[in-house]
Amino acid sequence: MVCFSKVCYFTVGQLSRTLQQPEDVFIPALSTVRVFKKEQTADFKLSVGTLRSNGILPPSGDIQLQAQDLASRLKPDSVVEDISADCGLITFKVNRKLLVQKLLEPFEKGKGEKFGLNSELFDTFKRGTTLVEYSSPNIAKKFHAGHLRSTIIGNFIANLKQSLGNRVIRMNYLGDWGMQFGLLGAGFGQFGCQEKLKQNPLQHLFEVYVQVNKEAEHNEDTKQAARDFFRQLERRESQAVSLWQQFREITVDEYRRVYKRLGVHFDIYSGESFHQDQAQEVVQQLQSQGLLKTSDRGTGVVDVSADGDMSSVCTVLRSDGTTLYITRDIAAAIDRKEKYNFDEMIYVTDKSQANHFYQLFQILLAMGHSWADRCQHVPFGLVQGMKTRTGEVVFLEDVLDEARASVLHNMSQSKTTKEMDDPGGTAEKVGISALLVQDFKGPLRSDYKFDWDRMLQAQGDTGVFLQYTHARLCSLIQRNEGVEAATFDPSLLIEQTSIATLQHLLRYDEALYHSAQDLQPKHLVNFLLKLCHLIAIAHRELPVKGSPQDVAQARLRLFSGACSVLANGMRILGITPVDKM
Ligand code: ARG
Repeated sequence: MVCFSKVCYFTVGQLSRTLQQPEDVFIPALSTVRVFKKEQTADFKLSVGTLRSNGILPPSGDIQLQAQDLASRLKPDSVVEDISADCGLITFKVNRKLLVQKLLEPFEKGKGEKFGLNSELFDTFKRGTTLVEYSSPNIAKKFHAGHLRSTIIGNFIANLKQSLGNRVIRMNYLGDWGMQFGLLGAGFGQFGCQEKLKQNPLQHLFEVYVQVNKEAEHNEDTKQAARDFFRQLERRESQAVSLWQQFREITVDEYRRVYKRLGVHFDIYSGESFHQDQAQEVVQQLQSQGLLKTSDRGTGVVDVSADGDMSSVCTVLRSDGTTLYITRDIAAAIDRKEKYNFDEMIYVTDKSQANHFYQLFQILLAMGHSWADRCQHVPFGLVQGMKTRTGEVVFLEDVLDEARASVLHNMSQSKTTKEMDDPGGTAEKVGISALLVQDFKGPLRSDYKFDWDRMLQAQGDTGVFLQYTHARLCSLIQRNEGVEAATFDPSLLIEQTSIATLQHLLRYDEALYHSAQDLQPKHLVNFLLKLCHLIAIAHRELPVKGSPQDVAQARLRLFSGACSVLANGMRILGITPVDKM
């Protein structure tokens, strides 16, 4: 897995001739070597184990001897200077000047944007239309931490897929139907106020919802009123529908504002309400396909057991003839396939819905929709303790406000903070970056504890550190604008610190590749954090100011290349890099 074609072709070409095998069989066995700050390392490694399991080398015998034997048959030349065998691996060290020159070339030719993304690693990648469904909050209910996670994870997946050349459809599937509207509709008559609804819509709807829920706990009349209101909605009675529409529109407008702050957008706002009628059609189809069974309780169920023995069933129809969440999801999936003809569809929700999506895909397959094989659920864990510092009930906005305020406060305390036009805007971007990195660092499936102090540290592995490093690079580059090099001498960048940084850049495509494979942002995040640590050392050890002009020029190239990769990587994560802080 290598982006550095020259080496790849050299190595792969030799291997192919030596072992008399086609070139592409070696690509999966080849990867870059992990970088250490102080220690010199080779650049690429070839796994003999992989060659054995691919049937290219005999699977038995001493693996180290096999590695040594193969290494001795490969000849170093002016591109690859050194070939060694070590622990079942063959390592390749590229000529240092060539490494520097080839790696920095794309940035100089203005192709830095594509760096990593145009790697041969992605040559065999299937590109097509990807529909990503994410965020999907429930109207009139709280936008909770889970929705925030879905929003930022889905946005990352969409960005990544798009960078890799897919056509991406970003969809928000609102929970805009169901009994909560019955309650809200009934409650609004009792506790609602149009004036408050205009001033602070989300807050007001939420208050009404809480109040009416409390009321319904002990008051049968309220419960009945809620049922009545929902029935009116289902019958499309105009008064009920127009109130519902008002709630929906107001809430979506509010969401759009928050999404904008987060740098997230959607191509389509769909929702459960769109699939009411289709859900009934789905039930009929299931029936005519013989897939619908009636349970003892009179509900309509579909067998989703592995053995087809009804040991596990999924309810798609209530005994009163109304459909459920899953029925609407079946209808929605079929509708999306017809409308957008996606090649793959990705749903992002918390892991408690894993079984829901398993059942959804099973039922679609049973109905003959083989494309359900290309539908995927990306589950994530719980966020514990997402509160503002004062501990109030949390709307997403409160969290964003608090993040911004904290960063602003820290900036005002720090001696290195620069003069800037829009400190609030900068603090907002840095705060969001902190939220994202905290969330993306580990496996998505894991739960984590929300921790304001840790997340906002300027030096730890945080989003603040990413932003700080980016801003520092920008200011270095800006301060030295006149120093642009006419000629560039790669031999001025061969000390360990620059080589380690460059070797790490060489791994960018692999980080992207791993993230694209398992849709986990941690590979990219950890790559960028390590890059920032290497840049911090480079700042210390490779000063630009006070160095001879040619050295200063060469170092600036290194810093510009690193800055460009950092910025591109941050954008894929969903972070807007700041130039000053
Ligand atoms: N609105 C749902 C919730 O908040 C999430 C919807 C997920 N998407 C779907 N197609 N079911 O739990």
